[in-house]
Amino acid sequence: MSNQLLKGKKGIIFGALDEKSIAWQVALEAVRNGAEIILTNAPIALRMGSIKKLSDECQSIIVPADATSIPDLENLFTTSIQHFGGKIDFVLHSIGMSLNVRKKRHYTDLNYDFLIKGLDVSAVSFHKMLQVAFKLDAINEFGSILALTYIASQRTFPDYNDMAENKSFLESIARSFGYHYGKSKNVRINTISQSPTLTTAGSGVKGFNEFFEYANNISPLGNASAIDCAKYCVSLFSDYTKMVTMQNLFHDGGFSSTGVSQEIIDNMKS
Ligand SMILES: NC(=O)c1ccc[n+]([C@@H]2O[C@H](COP(=O)([O-])OP(=O)(O)OC[C@H]3O[C@@H](n4cnc5c(N)ncnc54)[C@H](O)[C@@H]3O)[C@@H](O)[C@H]2O)c1
Repeated sequence: MSNQLLKGKKGIIFGALDEKSIAWQVALEAVRNGAEIILTNAPIALRMGSIKKLSDECQSIIVPADATSIPDLENLFTTSIQHFGGKIDFVLHSIGMSLNVRKKRHYTDLNYDFLIKGLDVSAVSFHKMLQVAFKLDAINEFGSILALTYIASQRTFPDYNDMAENKSFLESIARSFGYHYGKSKNVRINTISQSPTLTTAGSGVKGFNEFFEYANNISPLGNASAIDCAKYCVSLFSDYTKMVTMQNLFHDGGFSSTGVSQEIIDNMKS
């Protein structure tokens, strides 16, 4: 039996591409908890992915929006307010892309046009989304906005490449905009720093499978799954976390606080 933590709440979910996407699980968990949602993704992803299946399950509409386009975002928020007949209570930004990662450019040989594009998609899009929502006064008091991030923003993971900078920028936006949105409208903004997760974006990173195993062995609780992440997101959209804002919250089975584990030491011996 679900707890209905989001009963009566209305939200927008960015970034559900296929069943492996973290956003896909967040959409399902939000609806299980009583929320009404709108799904959005870039027009090209809507053509390639399987989001129609999710929208049927969630009984939600899909509004296409490239998260780097201000007109698309304005259309998304105004359409959402019309559709819901009122303001929005929660938003998930679950978007990441690096052309340097995709094109296998080494960190010491970055293409700067690729870098700017990846920064726009992965991080500046968060500011754009917040600014559009702020100007339209689209979010209810104590509404909750989340973005997904990764610990490579704060510690070096060599193959994460320029996504590390994108995630640092993203986390900083949550703090800076969190201040202004909190002060003027009581809206809260946080980032969740999630374990490695087997998704399309995740498995694009070089050496992902080996690193997934390593993180699983270091973390006392093991890696957090997409489904567990979805439950954490729902708790942060709910009124039970009403005073949490401007935080980067680790959802990683303890990875970020562990130096070494017995499993890693045992693996070194064998
Ligand atoms: N998978 C992991 O290991 C992991 C770990 C920590 C954090 N994250 C973060 O979680 C988030 C979701 O990624 P995922 O792992 O579920 O992968 P995913 O590939 O399923 O999701 C990425 C989404 O970004 C969307 N997107 C790309 N460009 C866009 C644009 N211009 N406008 C709108 N949407 C766009 C894609 O269509 C896709 O739906 C990302 O921010 C990612 O960095 C992932």
